Amino acid sequence: MPPIGIDAVALAVPTGYLELTDLAKARGVPSTKYHEGLLVTRMAVAQPYEDPVVLAANAARRLLITSGRRPADIGLCVVGTETAVDHAKPISAYLHGLLNLPERCRVFESKHACFGGTAGLLAAVDWIASGANRGRVALVVCTDIARYAMNTPGEPTQGAGAVAMIVSANPRLLAIDVGLGGSYARDVHDFWRPLNRKEALCDGHYSITCYLAALTSAYGAWKEACGEAGVNVELARTCYHVPYGKMARKAHLHRLALDGITGAEAEASFTREVASSLDLPSLAGNIYTGSLYMALASLLHLEGHEIEGRRIGLFSYGSGCTAEFFSGRVVAGAGAFARSLQLAAPLDGRRRYTMDEYEALRRHEDQADFAPLGSIEAPADAMAFLGVDGERRVYARLAPIEESTMPNGHLGNVININKLQAAKLRLL
Ligand code: CAA
Repeated sequence: MPPIGIDAVALAVPTGYLELTDLAKARGVPSTKYHEGLLVTRMAVAQPYEDPVVLAANAARRLLITSGRRPADIGLCVVGTETAVDHAKPISAYLHGLLNLPERCRVFESKHACFGGTAGLLAAVDWIASGANRGRVALVVCTDIARYAMNTPGEPTQGAGAVAMIVSANPRLLAIDVGLGGSYARDVHDFWRPLNRKEALCDGHYSITCYLAALTSAYGAWKEACGEAGVNVELARTCYHVPYGKMARKAHLHRLALDGITGAEAEASFTREVASSLDLPSLAGNIYTGSLYMALASLLHLEGHEIEGRRIGLFSYGSGCTAEFFSGRVVAGAGAFARSLQLAAPLDGRRRYTMDEYEALRRHEDQADFAPLGSIEAPADAMAFLGVDGERRVYARLAPIEESTMPNGHLGNVININKLQAAKLRLL
């Protein structure tokens, strides 16, 4: 069986963010609590027109352009989210339409808190391993808007964004160790989002305990599976689910302690093996399903070249709860390919909101899903949720991506693009 894994990645974030220094000042908290206590710097804030469908479509479209893949190549499209826009119609259905994906395509949404994207990724790997893909690739998109009530401990750990991934045979970034994942599940109430509210509820400190208990068990199961398969468990780097950077730090120190490594050696290991994966997440905040994969993008962006050929670990945690510890080998050439994907570019050039703007956006978010068509304002060149018409959500549709316009990874080669595409491409 050829290697199977993550072939390409792209991110999308809203156009604006809140500097956490501003939030700290407004909430009467020392900014060091956020910067050093939680290891967060900025949190992305979504406008009403930047809903989870729009974020998913922006990430997926960017992925198609930067990776050189065509919509026709895709035979499976899974969206992981815990910010669904409908009880029945999945975000993947909107995405299928917006990207002009083929009719012969398996399309669904996957939910288990922040684990939904990993469930999609693992389903995609199995789909390819089974041979059902018949030469085609999978598109897996994680998209979420993380919201807690204002003036609560969770507020500085909000964020918004999407991560799109191509999963394929002979991947260009990460070959996953198929069949070695360590799973864990337990019915707990650490974090949840009741149907009648947009904001999450959580038992914050308990959720940290649940995360670490899940890591203990899933990591142990992964090591056992590796032992049985004769696979070396030495990891060059590990990416964790990042609700906020400090959680990943706690997780890494916890994992090392399980292996008897503590003190200065553990601190040095965090700096060497985890810190670079927290760079991009610290600028976007928690993006729930996509957080682990934004951490992976951050790692590949900053250190892809150095870790080619080496095994890395990934830990995915979904409250409620379930988790998986799995691993993969960074592919030869991944560093240069990651560079060509310009993974960090969507985080540049965003607008910094004032506290007043942020609070005004928060106050209006409850109505946004029910706003009549035309009452939501969006820039003329944006991919946008435009409101509801006859109880149906309406989106400004991206022009179909023509095969002739695909740049084969070279962004400058795009030809024959309409105004909307041109505007989007300027963001690349
Ligand atoms: N300077 C530097 N550090 C400071 C400080 C200061 N002035 N003041 C406090 N700190 C440190 C504290 O010592 C603490 O560090 P440690 O964790 O290393 O002990 C850290 O800052 C946080 O302080 P508190 O524990 O007092 O913070 P809090 O009680 O206000 O809230 C939280 C922290 C519970 C994580 C809260 O932000 C929260 O509820 N977040 C949402 C839930 C969450 O993210 N849980 C994570 C696990 S669940 C999961 O992963 C799923 C998911 O995506 C939600």
